[in-house]
Amino acid sequence: MPTIDEIATFAKKKGFVFPSAEIYGGMAGFYDYGPLGSEMVMKIKNLWWKSIVHDRENVVGINGSIIGSEAVWNASGHVANFIDVVAFCKKCKLKIKVDKHEIGKAKCDCGALYENLGEFNPMFSTEVGVIKSEAVKAYLRPETAQTIFINFKNVLDTSRVKLPFGIAQIGKAFRNEISPRNFLFRMREFEQMELEFFTHPDKKNDCPIFEEVEKVKVNVLTAKEQAGTGKMESMTMGDLLKKKIIKTKWHAYWIGYRYNWYLDLGVNPEKLRLREHVPEELSHYSAATWDIDYEYPIGWKELEGNADRTDYDLQQHTKSSKVDLSYYDEDTKERVIPHVVSEPSAGVDRVFLTLLMDAYHEEEVKGETRIVLKLHPDVAPFKVAILPLVKKDGLSEKGKEVFNNLKQKFNSFYDESGSIGRRYRRMDEIGTPFCITVDHESLEQDDCTLRERDSMRQIRIKIKDLSDIIKKLSEGEKLETFGKFIN
Ligand code: GLY
Repeated sequence: MPTIDEIATFAKKKGFVFPSAEIYGGMAGFYDYGPLGSEMVMKIKNLWWKSIVHDRENVVGINGSIIGSEAVWNASGHVANFIDVVAFCKKCKLKIKVDKHEIGKAKCDCGALYENLGEFNPMFSTEVGVIKSEAVKAYLRPETAQTIFINFKNVLDTSRVKLPFGIAQIGKAFRNEISPRNFLFRMREFEQMELEFFTHPDKKNDCPIFEEVEKVKVNVLTAKEQAGTGKMESMTMGDLLKKKIIKTKWHAYWIGYRYNWYLDLGVNPEKLRLREHVPEELSHYSAATWDIDYEYPIGWKELEGNADRTDYDLQQHTKSSKVDLSYYDEDTKERVIPHVVSEPSAGVDRVFLTLLMDAYHEEEVKGETRIVLKLHPDVAPFKVAILPLVKKDGLSEKGKEVFNNLKQKFNSFYDESGSIGRRYRRMDEIGTPFCITVDHESLEQDDCTLRERDSMRQIRIKIKDLSDIIKKLSEGEKLETFGKFIN
């Protein structure tokens, strides 16, 4: 696996990600996605949205504003409790953010004990209104979640949702990190994909779809083990629930569902684990939090969090706004404040970084190093590249005809310059799973070759069958199902 710095260099060279304002020396903690990165980000978000909102009857989406009034962030507890403890290594002159419970214990890589520099609130504040005396304080949201809670009643009143139900959102969030580092891993401006899933307070176990995830195998590090030997265990989601390691069925469902999302996208199962938050590190709103971690070159780190936020937020906003945020349960004929039994909260940028790092491979092919991004076809910037063998003899025209047809269905790329070997390598490097070549035979027989990125094997197929075959290959069917290997 490449280091984070190596992947940052690669991402810039290929047009995935650029340091923001680079021509002015850049700005720490801010990055811009280039042509390939923005394609990939869009696909990640669309996949998440489809699986969380469109594929379900009981989840709806919103898109809230980024700047929120002070009242929102006072009520949510972020002004008082959203605190970073900053530690400083005198020897290395390095400032880092540490968890509260690490103070006095955390050591720098050089071996020196960190000094506590103090506590800081990482929210970016601003003023709304240009006339100073009339301006009011506001904050850039540090999480998208609160725009969901403050719209809870609006959604209830307009969407006909019934408990249990979810409200999802994808959007930007901001944290003034003390030491943004490790490329996209810790940024000051980032994007979240969050779901708040609400249940009746007494029905956190009434999950009729748990069996969807019951057999999902996960690596688990419990809070107990973190205090003990630190041993990770392999278990199924069913075991985790049965042994009451995860306390409620809905929480377990969403944790398992999200873990499996990464497995389905081809992430190396050995590099994924579930880690339970120890009591000292729980956020101010959480009764229980589980992280899905990935093993980066900098160690195991959170890829996505999932908290049981209880009724904390709806209670806080009810108290502060004096607006009734209760829900009338027609089955039990009572008014209740629902619980957020589960909040799967993923950073788009972290998911992007993880998929890129996990997919990056260097292989020896015929005495040369081939860089190949083994990205899942659904997240690769281009699904297919059309590469006429040569430009002349009508092959350009034939290639463009194929491109114009395929681009209606898939994000497609057309390239006719340079040797075919070089063009294949360029596509391998940016993760294009399928390459089509048209040659002289194609003009006669209306067929083409289809090359698979990972195996580099090729088959010959009819042009009219292309889109159907590409779709099936993307869904996991084997190349040899559609023709004999020709190389
Ligand atoms: N909403 C949870 C988080 O931003 O961490």
